[in-house]
Amino acid sequence: MNTPTPTSEAAAAALPGSLAPPGLPDVAGLTQLANAFFAMLPGETMAAALPGLAQRAPSLTAAPVAAQPPASLPGPVPLPTSLPVGHPAPPPAAVPPVTVPVAATGAGVPLVGSAPVAASAAPFYFLDEAGAGPRAAGGRDGLDDLDGLAAAASAPAVLPAQSFGLPGESELQALLRSLTAPGPTHADGPYYFVDAPAPVPAVAPLAAPAFDVQAVRRDFPILAERVANGRPLVWFDNAATTQKPQAVIDRLAYFYAHENSNIHRAAHELAARATEAYEQARRTVAGFLGAGSPDEIVFVRGATEAINLVAQSWGRQEIGEGDEIIVSLLEHHANIVPWQRLAAEKGAKLRVIPVDDDGQIRLDEYARLLNARTKLVAVTQVSNALGTIVPVADVVRLGHAAGARVLIDGAQAVSHLRVDVQALDTDFYVFSGHKIFGPTGIGVLYGKPELLAAMPPWQGGGNMIADVSFEQIRYQDAPARFEAGTGNIADAVGLGAALDYVQRLGLEHIAQYEHELLVYASAGLRTVPGLRLIGTAPDKASVVSFVLAGYRSDEVGTALNREGIAVRSGHHCAQPILRRFGLETSVRPSLAFYNTREEVDRMIRVLQQLARERRV
Ligand code: ALA
Repeated sequence: MNTPTPTSEAAAAALPGSLAPPGLPDVAGLTQLANAFFAMLPGETMAAALPGLAQRAPSLTAAPVAAQPPASLPGPVPLPTSLPVGHPAPPPAAVPPVTVPVAATGAGVPLVGSAPVAASAAPFYFLDEAGAGPRAAGGRDGLDDLDGLAAAASAPAVLPAQSFGLPGESELQALLRSLTAPGPTHADGPYYFVDAPAPVPAVAPLAAPAFDVQAVRRDFPILAERVANGRPLVWFDNAATTQKPQAVIDRLAYFYAHENSNIHRAAHELAARATEAYEQARRTVAGFLGAGSPDEIVFVRGATEAINLVAQSWGRQEIGEGDEIIVSLLEHHANIVPWQRLAAEKGAKLRVIPVDDDGQIRLDEYARLLNARTKLVAVTQVSNALGTIVPVADVVRLGHAAGARVLIDGAQAVSHLRVDVQALDTDFYVFSGHKIFGPTGIGVLYGKPELLAAMPPWQGGGNMIADVSFEQIRYQDAPARFEAGTGNIADAVGLGAALDYVQRLGLEHIAQYEHELLVYASAGLRTVPGLRLIGTAPDKASVVSFVLAGYRSDEVGTALNREGIAVRSGHHCAQPILRRFGLETSVRPSLAFYNTREEVDRMIRVLQQLARERRV
């Protein structure tokens, strides 16, 4: 536990009424406090430092920052960019100071230098959340809140989220309240400070802005693995699952070493840490998808469970006899079977958008399928079998014009394309964590808030209820309403780390690199005699599906495996689209940003050898 100290109170008192009304983060006030703190002379109080700040260190006096409107997602909070970091006050006598390395962080909030901070107890932080802006504050036991700012300014950006404040209150709001406003303190009840036990392992810097694939590969330990009698692994099965960067592996280990607890249920410190880590992951997902609020993000097991949730909750409530559901021929079974089952149960009809010979959906046919009975359109954004990028903005626009709701399956899209669910105006969006470098067993349903609010729960249990008696049940609001039982807490946190990772790399860099690699791989495959590419749409992401004359798909997969090259061969859980091309199976190399041209060349050499040895 930590308490506001006389120093911080004096600092607050010295501020000339600039802090925002209760409930609003006052960015300018906080910046002013931080500036004054860093300009303090040895032995000086904040109250003394503030008035002379502008004269003493004009460069430190950040221009006033307009107070930001309350937002559901924490916005970036500008910090001074040239802090002479270092606390003039000596640390507690018995404890030697430690110098905390500074992390240069993303999103234009660079922090520079290093700071001596007390080594006693655990710090709490003011940290840049890998692009999301500073969002938590704290200090070390025995130091005041502003000392916490110093420690925070010098703390690596990857430090975990820390709980600070009243439930439902942002950390920034809690900090400002603790500095300025009368109100509950930690002694009054649920107000708490939670200290960090230890720094999370630092994430290796990434190779942005220039995309350095060799540097990126070093972030993925499994890519150094040898398979098939010592051959270097080539992982071309990314559409099935992606490999995990060290940042995700470390984050999972950190969670179990320092934060593990059930969430939302206890007053103890580990419950607070685990809850904060889990909810921070939800905020990260919301930011990643461009959602309006973390409350629009439901954690589920994966895209399959998300689609089943919508079918069982929204679908059972909204779809009736004679209604129509539209899917496309490109769909994964996960976006077919739940709707088939629902249609059979309700007496509704499933209608299918055909594709052209390149494997792109026919928008003209789609427009013809839409009618007043269409209640839902559910399509993939990227085909897992062919790699086709579907023009989902058009799908949404046309669907809405016909009065239908639209669900986009983003399982194969999110790791390759930037997604903005609000710009897309989709009603639902789903994806799986393991396809975007996160853990298995965790995924996401995004839903528009008014839809989630009107949807009944689909599973019952703990966590999703507000009150239970034998006479009646009251449910929580979304998203808790849809998260019955103990969820996959650690893996949600790991997913947050994965999304932070790809965002540090930059989706635009990823998309450009992968596009060039896909073009290179497609050209190479065309040189193999007897090889037929399946899916040749101009807009594709990451997948090159093919068959090779004279060989079954599993034979090609086995031959590639002998050389250490992992591809999927089979029907890819998308039988309707393969049958459209007269096939039951194909060979499917699928690329990620850590793959290289050299790896593609190795694959082509094996295929050319097979072509030379073809049985006649
Ligand atoms: N949906 C995964 C794939 O396409 C399993 O391989």
